[in-house]
Amino acid sequence: MNQILVTGGLGYIGSHTIIELLAAGYEPIVIDNLSESPIEVKDRIEKIAGREITFRQVELCNRAAVDAVFEEFPTISGVIHFAAFLLVNESVDKPLKYYHNNLLSTVNLLQSMEAYGIRNIVFSSSCTVYGTPENPHVDENAPVQPAESPYGNTKKMGEEILRDQAATGVVDVLSLRYFNPIGAHPSSIIGEFQDGEPHHLVPYITETAIGKRKELKVFGSDYDTRDGSCIRDYIHVIDIAKAHILAVQHLIDGKTKGYDTINLGSGNGSTVLEMIHAFERATGLTIPYSLAPRRAGDVPAVYANIGKAQRVLNWTPEKSLEDMLRDAWNFEQSLPQE
Ligand code: WQD
Repeated sequence: MNQILVTGGLGYIGSHTIIELLAAGYEPIVIDNLSESPIEVKDRIEKIAGREITFRQVELCNRAAVDAVFEEFPTISGVIHFAAFLLVNESVDKPLKYYHNNLLSTVNLLQSMEAYGIRNIVFSSSCTVYGTPENPHVDENAPVQPAESPYGNTKKMGEEILRDQAATGVVDVLSLRYFNPIGAHPSSIIGEFQDGEPHHLVPYITETAIGKRKELKVFGSDYDTRDGSCIRDYIHVIDIAKAHILAVQHLIDGKTKGYDTINLGSGNGSTVLEMIHAFERATGLTIPYSLAPRRAGDVPAVYANIGKAQRVLNWTPEKSLEDMLRDAWNFEQSLPQE
């Protein structure tokens, strides 16, 4: 009852979820195609866990390879599906790469689950499905808006594929809509590894703090927010990981039939400038930054109403903004500096 298949398990949120699955007594079966994460992440997970993990290099776009996993592990009781390309900018330049990978992998996984009688799947979705909401404090009833990028569209379409398959009665689904996951494992052995210049705010802050980047550019200071910079809901990656354990067990226990969505955020909004100052307070460092033009596609303000996660999953985030930023900074300091 405790074998859980984790796709994209060597990724940022996947790797932290493996640690929490092991700590909660589950047996994760980790698959990853190693296109975005090096096999070294497996060694790092094993170092934290103090034991080997079951890993298979699997290309989810190859249906036979997915079937082979369920052949080899017939007692999988649930799936957590992280595997996806996730760079907004890249998805604009290479939309078909995103549609092919993110959608075909999900269809293959669902077809294979149906063939092997696996009923439970937790899907890695995103607040990006809300687009620019009318009310920035969004709950799960907020309308899903037209996607602002092919990446966001694959999350929206992924939810629709799962919802339609759930309507046939062969699968039960929880789509978890992450807001802005940040931070790292307190050991600094795993975290949000960057491949080149960071796209996201917090890794850019930590790389500026350590001197890899000259200064942080604040993308937009003329938004209709309390200080003109964008508002987001930052949530510790470990709190996100823990929610996945509760979600997959919730499905195994048969407590959700069909399809449902749940927001995962802190419930609080922070502006970019507030994040810079919070980092400075948490570390005692000064972050050089300049006010720059808006970044295309940015939503002015969005943060989560997390009442449903509390009601349905009995989940409440435990880590503070200071915990998130301190763990992110410690992880940065643990990396080899050129
Ligand atoms: C946050 C804020 C930027 C960098 C992304 C994905 C989303 C989800 C979470 C997966 C924005 C500002 C950033 C910088 C800045 N991922 N910023 N200077 O765009 O909210 O969401 O991660 O599901 O799908 O789009 O996160 O960290 O890129 O930006 O001013 O150097 O920080 O403009 O306002 P975002 P982000």
